[in-house]
Amino acid sequence: MNRLDGKVAIVTGAGQGIGAAIARAFLREGAAVTLAERNGAQAEAYAQTLRNELPGARVLAVQTDVTERATVEHAVAETERAFGPLDVFVNNAGINVFRDPLTMTDEDWKRCFSVDLDGVWNGCRAALPGMVERRRGSIINIASTHSFKIIPGCFPYPVAKHGVIGLTRALGIEYAAQGVRVNAIAPGYIETQLVIDYWNEQADPQAAREATYALQPPKRIGKPEEVGMTAVFLASDEATFINASTITVDGGRSALYHD
Ligand SMILES: NC(=O)c1ccc[n+]([C@@H]2O[C@H](COP(=O)([O-])OP(=O)(O)OC[C@H]3O[C@@H](n4cnc5c(N)ncnc54)[C@H](O)[C@@H]3O)[C@@H](O)[C@H]2O)c1
Repeated sequence: MNRLDGKVAIVTGAGQGIGAAIARAFLREGAAVTLAERNGAQAEAYAQTLRNELPGARVLAVQTDVTERATVEHAVAETERAFGPLDVFVNNAGINVFRDPLTMTDEDWKRCFSVDLDGVWNGCRAALPGMVERRRGSIINIASTHSFKIIPGCFPYPVAKHGVIGLTRALGIEYAAQGVRVNAIAPGYIETQLVIDYWNEQADPQAAREATYALQPPKRIGKPEEVGMTAVFLASDEATFINASTITVDGGRSALYHD
C-alpha cells in the first residue's frame, strides 16, 4: 500500500506500544519515519527490526525527550536532513500519572504535565514553522478517552489529556488557512506496556485484565495497530478536510450510558 508515499513523518515515543505501531504502519504505507524516543537504545533496536522486516524502509532513530524543547527541534532538523521537509508529526509520547488529588506531590503534577501536555506543545511548535511556511502538514496528537471522561483516582492524567484536545482545536484553527491540519486520536484501552504495568499494580493482575475486557462492548481491548491505521488515515491525503477534530478509537466504550 502507498497511502503515505513520499511523506516524511516523526513519531514521538515510538520505541514501543502505540507509537511503535504508528511508525510501522507509516513505513508500510511508504512514509520515511523518525522514531523520536527518550530511550535511544530501544529506538535504535526497533529501527533495526523495522529495516529487517521492511527492506528499503527509510527509518531513523533520534534520541528525543519531549519535555526538552531543544531535543524535539533537533529531531526535526535530523529528520529533514535525512529525508527532506517534514509532512507529519505525531505527538504520541505520554505517561500515566494516576494519583489522589490531595495527596499527589508537586513532582507528580509536573512530571505528568511536562510529558503529556508540554511535550505535545513542544512537538507542535517544532513542527509548525516549516509546515506553515510550506503551507502543508498534518499534526496528530494522541489524546485519550480520559480527555472526555473522568475515572476517580486517575488524577492528573485526564487534566493533561483534556488539555491535549484544547491544544489540538486551538492550533487546528490558528493554522487552518495556512494548510496545516491538527487532529487528535483518543484511544480507549489499548494493550501496551502502559496498560500491562497498570494491571500488574493491582492485587490480582489476571482478574484486573479480565475485568477490563468485560467492560468493553467488543469484550476485548484494542491493539496498537488499530490506532496505527487511524493515524495513517489522518496523515494521508484521504483526510484533507478533517481538522481540529478528534477520532475516538475505543470499541464504542465511551458511547455506553454506564458500565
Ligand atoms: N495504552 C492505552 O490504553 C492508551 C490509552 C489512551 C491513550 N494512550 C496514550 O497513547 C500514548 C502511547 O501510550 P502507550 O500505551 O503506547 O505507552 P508505552 O508506555 O507503551 O509507550 C510510551 C513510549 O513513550 C516513550 N516516552 C515516555 N516519555 C517520553 C519522553 N519524555 N520523550 C520521548 N519519549 C517518551 C517511552 O519510552 C515509550 O517508548 C500515550 O500518550 C498514552 O497516554 C494510551
